[in-house]
Amino acid sequence: MTDLLFTPLKVGALTLPNRVIMAPLTRMRATFPDDVPNALMQAYYLQRASAGLIICEASQISPQGKGYMDTPGIYSAAQVDGWRAITGAVHAAGGRMCMQLWHVGRVSHHSLQPDNALPVSASALPYRNRTSVRGPDGKPQRADCDTPRALETNEIPGLLDDYRRATVNAREAGFDMVEVHAAHGYLLQQFQSAESNHRTDAYGGTLENRARLTLEALDAVIDAWDAAHVGIRISPLGVFNGLDDAAGLEMGLYLAEQFAARGIAYLHLSEPDWAGGPALNEEFRRALREKFPGVIIGAGNYTKEKADTLLAKGLIDAAAFGRPFIANPDLPRRLQSGAPLNTPDQKTFYGGGAEGYTDYPALA
Ligand code: PHB
Repeated sequence: MTDLLFTPLKVGALTLPNRVIMAPLTRMRATFPDDVPNALMQAYYLQRASAGLIICEASQISPQGKGYMDTPGIYSAAQVDGWRAITGAVHAAGGRMCMQLWHVGRVSHHSLQPDNALPVSASALPYRNRTSVRGPDGKPQRADCDTPRALETNEIPGLLDDYRRATVNAREAGFDMVEVHAAHGYLLQQFQSAESNHRTDAYGGTLENRARLTLEALDAVIDAWDAAHVGIRISPLGVFNGLDDAAGLEMGLYLAEQFAARGIAYLHLSEPDWAGGPALNEEFRRALREKFPGVIIGAGNYTKEKADTLLAKGLIDAAAFGRPFIANPDLPRRLQSGAPLNTPDQKTFYGGGAEGYTDYPALA
């Protein structure tokens, strides 16, 4: 029987040699204070170059888009240079890399913002939880997210320019494609959800209005490159980052239809169970597939068995692995051969150095 996970897949302008995708993973190891990608990050991504596609950790499109300490950016010349060294190393090893474009919105703290400003969101409604800021000892420390200020309608064109510029930067940095992060309770989903969006302008109210910013950001990114080099990630039923989106299903299906109309390279579905939500049911998967006939990447608590089952049913086209890729630099080979997997250590997920980052062993 063909092992579908190890067959090639055309994704927009790219052809992947396998369907084992490295999921975007926040690791908080960029160089302080300018959030520049560095040699340690290069070593980490290079070790994982056998992935069908590496989707890099979420990277802020502007200083305002940052919500955790030491996450990398994609807005400055130094950041572009840092990323270029990383994509160059991954390409030389035969891999491919996609940049994940991120704006956290209200999941932030003024100490992470330019001039200690308040973070922005759809409305001045707080995410009632904590994020990771730089403590006095230089180590991550938890701090309550601030109550954000609502973006003014006339600030939205500038925000779209940030998405456009970040896309141009990603191209210049040698990325093979870009992914818009429209999931996980960050800025674009803060607009999607009626829970966090109480706006009365064209970006709030109806479902179409709440989806508007996501689609305008997507269109800005397509405009800066082309649809064949653009994917997008959504988490329609996700509970991560305090979102309880009653209309998540409906929003997910509406967005999928809009994405299909634009002919983008892929839809990346972050499933709720990785963050403690319920597993997606097959009815939703089938409805989504109907709305989006292109490439669907599934992510969230994937095992080889889960991937095989959904691939065989045609409900996904590729599977993204997060925590397994943290602990197994050679994950594709291990999945293909049935070799045992290393166990990830949660204590070293965020921040720190090489420990728990570049020291997980590959098979001999
Ligand atoms: C996180 O830092 O925990 C994080 C970042 C981006 C995501 C999800 C989680 O999309």
